[in-house]
Amino acid sequence: MNLDSFFADHWKDIETDRLARYEEMFQWRDGQRSLLGPADLQPGQRVLDLGAGPGFFALGIAGIVGEAGAVDGVDINARFVTDANARAARFDHVNFHLLEDHRLPFEAGTFDRAICKNVLEYVPDLHASLEELGRVLKPGGRVHIIDSDWGFVIVEPWGKDTVDRFFQAAAPAFREPYVGRRAAGALASAGFGEIEVTMVPIVDREGMGLSVLTNMASYIHTFGTLADAEVKQLMAQARDGIGDGSYLFCLPQFLVTGTVS
Ligand SMILES: C[S@@+](CC[C@H](N)C(=O)[O-])C[C@H]1O[C@@H](n2cnc3c(N)ncnc32)[C@H](O)[C@@H]1O
Repeated sequence: MNLDSFFADHWKDIETDRLARYEEMFQWRDGQRSLLGPADLQPGQRVLDLGAGPGFFALGIAGIVGEAGAVDGVDINARFVTDANARAARFDHVNFHLLEDHRLPFEAGTFDRAICKNVLEYVPDLHASLEELGRVLKPGGRVHIIDSDWGFVIVEPWGKDTVDRFFQAAAPAFREPYVGRRAAGALASAGFGEIEVTMVPIVDREGMGLSVLTNMASYIHTFGTLADAEVKQLMAQARDGIGDGSYLFCLPQFLVTGTVS
């Protein structure tokens, strides 16, 4: 394991149990429409989904733009691309492509919208990726970033200091763990205009957030940045909290849009 490239490597090669968690976590849910609001998606638009994963979100977008529009998903994980193309087999207007690096296999000015959901925290060079998105967008086209900020999480009953230590211990899994707060500035520096920032609070008391915590725990185990016994005890405390009502998981999503002039 190379700690310096783990943020990319762990997406190219995904263990079976983590893959199974992603299949569940990334399902399209109607509530996700609110995450897309500022993108102002319209029927007939051509949309790029950067880091499309198993393809559920791109298929949700395809339902919004309709068959008069089109969706292209791109990802660095070959298995995701194959599975997503299989899921989209009956839709001529949805296609998924494998990426080798930040360069996108499309002509300049191809897309009306570019969506990046929980992806830019992993790209090796945020500025280069945003410039590349700007290249493939049409003039007036809009990029819409949906992302977390791992310094902005609540997990009860852990308390703030423990949450900070836990996510700090998992931080090498991300190239940019604080991308939520940085996205607007990064768009400005990549030349986008009309930048808008809103937030959608994801609040969970039922245990949905445990998948996120389990992934973090597996990264922490790999990095050896916290003792296994402590992580095990924290995970048990969170699980028990669902039963006794003390559990609360909150991970706001930053929604950040910018327009190509
Ligand atoms: C947290 S998942 C989000 C998947 C999907 N966007 C969703 O929300 O359902 C992150 C995705 O980004 C992809 N990814 C990671 N680094 C990438 C890069 N440099 N370029 C494109 N995709 C990348 C991963 O393979 C993975 O599918």
